[in-house]
Amino acid sequence: MTQFIFKNVWFKYDNEHDWVLKDINLEIRKGEFVIILGHNGCGKTTLLKHFNRLLKPNKGEILFEGKDLKSYKDFEVFSKVGFLFQDPNDQIFATTVEEDVSFGPLNMGLSPEEIEERVVESLSLVGMLEYRKAKIHELSYGQKQRVAIAGVLANKPSIIVFDEPTSSLDPATQIEVMDILKRLNESGITVIMTTHDIEYIAEYTERIITMANGMIIYDGDIKELFSKDEIINSSRLRLPKVAVLVKKIFEYYGIKLDNIPLKVDEAMELIKNTFKEPFIHTHS
Ligand SMILES: Nc1ncnc2c1ncn2[C@@H]1O[C@H](COP(=O)(O)OP(=O)(O)O)[C@@H](O)[C@H]1O
Ligand SMILES: [Mg+2]
Repeated sequence: MTQFIFKNVWFKYDNEHDWVLKDINLEIRKGEFVIILGHNGCGKTTLLKHFNRLLKPNKGEILFEGKDLKSYKDFEVFSKVGFLFQDPNDQIFATTVEEDVSFGPLNMGLSPEEIEERVVESLSLVGMLEYRKAKIHELSYGQKQRVAIAGVLANKPSIIVFDEPTSSLDPATQIEVMDILKRLNESGITVIMTTHDIEYIAEYTERIITMANGMIIYDGDIKELFSKDEIINSSRLRLPKVAVLVKKIFEYYGIKLDNIPLKVDEAMELIKNTFKEPFIHTHS
């Protein structure tokens, strides 16, 4: 089922500036995990803010679940379309974890039992239940990120839009947050995210959208993207390191490489199958 459709969407912040989004056409199906890539300032955040009406197009149309996004009430958009700011400090206003996560359900007028249930469920999903009484300022950046995600989950959205959710996190926490997004997606929530980190994205998605200068320049399979040099260059991307290494190994041995691996396990399989005999260690 198609969940979001952008039709010829154009946007600019004001008349002094040029168009920031230029003729965006996009279709998101329910349950997809979509990653948006693109150079700094290409319009990723601006595009994401259109999903929950933080920004509205100057031209064009956005359909959400078959209806014009404009026709929804504010609280419907707020609850159905989750939005995660790049910095959790922009998202969390309450003093304690519990207060923050119950904010949405409370404003929806749910009963205390329902609120309790949502708080417990959301904090459990991000592994933060034991911190429910904690003060926000006592948490690490990564923990705040999780609480911010729980706060959005408590509204039971059908889609969540994440703006660079891993950009300020240490490597181990990045993977933890990505695994949370994966779990959310497996539970049926559509996930759209932006990132600059191309090292691990192939582990999470097959569909990549790349932007450059306010336009979508690629929308499709991740494998195909990384085989197109012009698109990689114009969106200021590069190949994941594992792919670079495998390419070099194959070049060195003069073996043709048809299918560039983007994941470590995939690279390992390819290497095993190509160099079938294990190397023999000789100790003299
Ligand atoms: N509030 C704003 N007012 C005016 N221009 C803005 C505003 N926010 C972003 N821009 C401009 O819009 C363009 C796209 O920005 P943004 O969507 O933040 O890109 P990205 O997230 O890809 O880095 C940039 O040129 C940026 O300077
Ligand atoms: Mg941005």
